[in-house]
Amino acid sequence: MESSLPGLEAILLVGGQGTRLRPLTLGTPKPLLPTAGVPFLAHQLARARAFGVRRIVFATSYKAAMFEPAFGDGAAFGLSLEYMTEESPLGTGGAIRNAAEALDSGPGDPVLILNGDILSGHDIGDQVRAHLARRAAVTLHLTEVDDPTRFGCVPTDETGRVTAFLEKTPNPVTNRINAGCYVFTRSMIDSIPCGEVVSVERETFPGLIKSGELVLGYADRTYWLDVGTPAAFVQGSRDLVLGRLDSPALPGPTGECLALDGARISPEAKVRGGTAVGARAVVEAGATVTGSVLLDDSVVESGAAVTDAVVGKGARVCAGTVVRDAVIGDGAVVGPGNELRHGVRIWPGVELPERAVRYSSDV
Ligand code: GTP
Repeated sequence: MESSLPGLEAILLVGGQGTRLRPLTLGTPKPLLPTAGVPFLAHQLARARAFGVRRIVFATSYKAAMFEPAFGDGAAFGLSLEYMTEESPLGTGGAIRNAAEALDSGPGDPVLILNGDILSGHDIGDQVRAHLARRAAVTLHLTEVDDPTRFGCVPTDETGRVTAFLEKTPNPVTNRINAGCYVFTRSMIDSIPCGEVVSVERETFPGLIKSGELVLGYADRTYWLDVGTPAAFVQGSRDLVLGRLDSPALPGPTGECLALDGARISPEAKVRGGTAVGARAVVEAGATVTGSVLLDDSVVESGAAVTDAVVGKGARVCAGTVVRDAVIGDGAVVGPGNELRHGVRIWPGVELPERAVRYSSDV
């Protein structure tokens, strides 16, 4: 890692419902979905630790009880972890305010805030140093995307000061968008109303800009991905397996395929393109799996072709089926000879009969 800042505290926002990732998030919150063989958050925790973060408060809400069993007190990750749960979801700003009750930091200290669904290669230490050097109220990581129309865009002046926080628009004024990693001066968190639903994007940041506080942009062009949609989730896993983003949490060497313990891949199968194969998952002879996520105990039968897809826990893709850019829910069975494409989602437990053929809507 580029640079380290010992002692930094962080809040990790992990309470969202992950609606865009359904049905994967019906049983598991987005930050715990297996990604390149480990819960998504493991990659973020490992990167944060590598930059000197030692204490992280999880801001939980949706399926809150599932986080502590997964990460415990954090000792296994070289971290100290705390869990703060909202009685009802407080939005991003309300969640930060609520979680801050568990921080040790003083009013002038920097606090790192991470969205729990972002993979980023940026230098967190450098972002914090930029924040401290300019005595900013908040410093936002900004990234550039080809199509900013899907995001709020964040223009800055020549000194890096954020001048506006703009909602999605068909004519964005800049390609720079909010990358979901902030450094707050602690006192700015304390100024968010307590116990209320607040959005940092819609209320806190525009409010700080309006009142003349220094909201700084930290822009860079390293690897960045919001894994909030099925296609992006699969891409994130694939990029980690292929080594396009370095992660200390990857449970094996980078390469075309990462297979967890007990996975059985026939020597006559082709598994490539950064595919992750879960524990006890089976890929039979003559099957081709490319750039996909096969979760634990799933089966891809002989002659099936799975590309850019997620196959849920215990799900089965039967012989001769084509699955491309699709999500198969946990325990679902896709009968022989089907063809699933174009973002189709099969709900958990659904059994598609043989050659129910081409699905263009969710089942
Ligand atoms: P979608 O429903 O698919 O939009 O996903 P999401 O629920 O994760 O929402 P979004 O991607 O906008 O959230 C950004 C980050 O904030 C994610 O890490 C969420 O887990 C987190 N988040 C959003 N709302 C809340 C909330 O009310 N409480 C907490 N604790 N976290 C939240």
